[in-house]
Amino acid sequence: MAIEHTFSILKPDVTRRNLTGKVNAVIEAAGLRIVAQKRIHMTRAQAEKFYGVHKERPFFGELVEMMTAAPVVVQVLQGENAIAKYREVMGATNPEKADAGTIRKEFALSMGENSAHGSDAPETAAQEIAQFFAGNEIVG
Ligand code: CMP
Repeated sequence: MAIEHTFSILKPDVTRRNLTGKVNAVIEAAGLRIVAQKRIHMTRAQAEKFYGVHKERPFFGELVEMMTAAPVVVQVLQGENAIAKYREVMGATNPEKADAGTIRKEFALSMGENSAHGSDAPETAAQEIAQFFAGNEIVG
């Protein structure tokens, strides 16, 4: 299996409740290494660009509001098969459908406030990482 990088966001519902350490403990226990990390307050422009693929969806406005309402932690995760592995660790988008032990089952509040974001494919991982990190900020 290839070593991959994936992009992760710990969302405002996590920073607000002081849960960044608990969520990252789940990520690290799964064998993923955090190789870049920063806490930022996303601007509206950053959130609208990041979620541009969803701009026609009915929840887009609510999503941008939620992502800019409080700080987030953006990070790059490295590991074997990291993209699929992190999606497994996060669980289903809807926390009610997420498996026990996943981040969303354990911590998410709702479909919108679902604690974590993870890239869905290698191309999106590369784009998402490049939106928030320069190459020299990623250190394995
Ligand atoms: P994420 O994995 O970051 O990708 C898109 C986000 O949109 C998703 O997590 C949720 O936070 C949000 N989202 C997806 N579906 C809905 C929905 N039906 N209602 C509100 N928010 C949603």
